[in-house]
Amino acid sequence: MDDWIDYYDSTHTIYVSKLHRDVHFRVIADDILTYVPLPDAVVLDYSCGEALSAAQVASACRTLILAEPAPGVRGRLSARFGPNPKIEVRSLDDLAQLADGSVDLAVMISVAQYMTPAELDRTFALMRRVVKPGGTFVLGDILRPDVGAATDVMALLRLAAKNGFLTDALWGLARTALSDYWQLRQSIGLQRYGEAEMLAKLETAGFKATRAKANIGYNPARMTFVATPRA
Ligand SMILES: C[S@@+](CC[C@H](N)C(=O)[O-])C[C@H]1O[C@@H](n2cnc3c(N)ncnc32)[C@H](O)[C@@H]1O
Repeated sequence: MDDWIDYYDSTHTIYVSKLHRDVHFRVIADDILTYVPLPDAVVLDYSCGEALSAAQVASACRTLILAEPAPGVRGRLSARFGPNPKIEVRSLDDLAQLADGSVDLAVMISVAQYMTPAELDRTFALMRRVVKPGGTFVLGDILRPDVGAATDVMALLRLAAKNGFLTDALWGLARTALSDYWQLRQSIGLQRYGEAEMLAKLETAGFKATRAKANIGYNPARMTFVATPRA
């Protein structure tokens, strides 16, 4: 396994059970919905993963573009959402075809940690180009330098206890500890950014950005940023 895209394309154990996966994507979709500005909006979900609750987001906007680099995941997205006329499934390369200023809301959740800083800069440049003036780019689930893996474990256990999959979560954590995930986390690592550092990066990319009060998803120790293109 070479990188995080391969990892997410594999039969990984990051979701400890079907219930965990369902709850995860429901929470993400509910949070995305709070940022959809109007029923006519074009929404881009960059590196969306399995996006199991995407139909809910699509029902609140005109078009939902699900972009995903992992080919196997993308195949499942196409099979799952092919019949939905509001959902388009794209590779990340396909996004080069998007017209300037054609997106009302772009979200990128739990992705920046897997990118090199250069990849992140290129993605910010894409977002700056496609998000329309007055539109929004929401960057979620950013890991801070001072928060370690124990906090991730606690956030998962809290979500599991609340949603009735605590035993599965404990087994899942044990499986993940022995899996490629920890090998990759130790070899390639995860990119972390401080709040001021990320605000400065977004500013340099041509956005005016603030940190949101709450993170998207279920890990309150991570950060979400809300950015709008600067004129
Ligand atoms: C933790 S999942 C997040 C999925 C979804 N956004 C969510 O919040 O559930 C990480 C996603 O990042 C993608 N990914 C991994 N490495 C990447 C990279 N270098 N560039 C772009 N996407 C990447 C994976 O394919 C996967 O879809």
